[in-house]
Amino acid sequence: MSIKAIWHRYRQFRQAIKSRLTPSDIEFVRLYLPQIEQVLFYRMALQDQRHSLLLAHTFLSRQHTHDYTWVDTKVFIRSALLHDVGKSFLPISVWMRSMYVVLQNWKEGALLDKHATAQSTHPFWQKMTVLANHGELGAQMLQSIGTLSDIVDVARYHHSKPQARESKLLPIIREIDGKI
Ligand SMILES: [Fe+2]
Ligand SMILES: [Fe+2]
Repeated sequence: MSIKAIWHRYRQFRQAIKSRLTPSDIEFVRLYLPQIEQVLFYRMALQDQRHSLLLAHTFLSRQHTHDYTWVDTKVFIRSALLHDVGKSFLPISVWMRSMYVVLQNWKEGALLDKHATAQSTHPFWQKMTVLANHGELGAQMLQSIGTLSDIVDVARYHHSKPQARESKLLPIIREIDGKI
């Protein structure tokens, strides 16, 4: 890829993460999420809101090609919209998120294991800790407002290895989340 092409992609990316939700996105969120869950949704960074909407829409568009008749669509959409809500625990810039990906891949995340802990006092490591534990943080936020246990489980375990007894929504969430 040429420098010009990389620059173009970078500008596209910047534009994408800065662009506001459309009126139809806002209507979609209003249709599926109860008021109290909307508050949590809009607490997320715009890029996480857009990512969560994409997950929900990808699921809906797959209904033509996949047998999802056994899935409760409303619960799935709510789970998709809220699965990353734990990332809103602290404001985290795009740069910090990039650093997190680098650290995850450096020596199998050795530095994250060492410094990204609940005892971290440095703001940088506190943000890394939020990213590392956003599943559990999100689950606790959702539990505190009394959300359905399936939705709480999706938040808590969407980055965990599959378990024998888990929400049936999790494999679909994990699969789409890993591709978008
Ligand atoms: Fe996540
Ligand atoms: Fe995600």
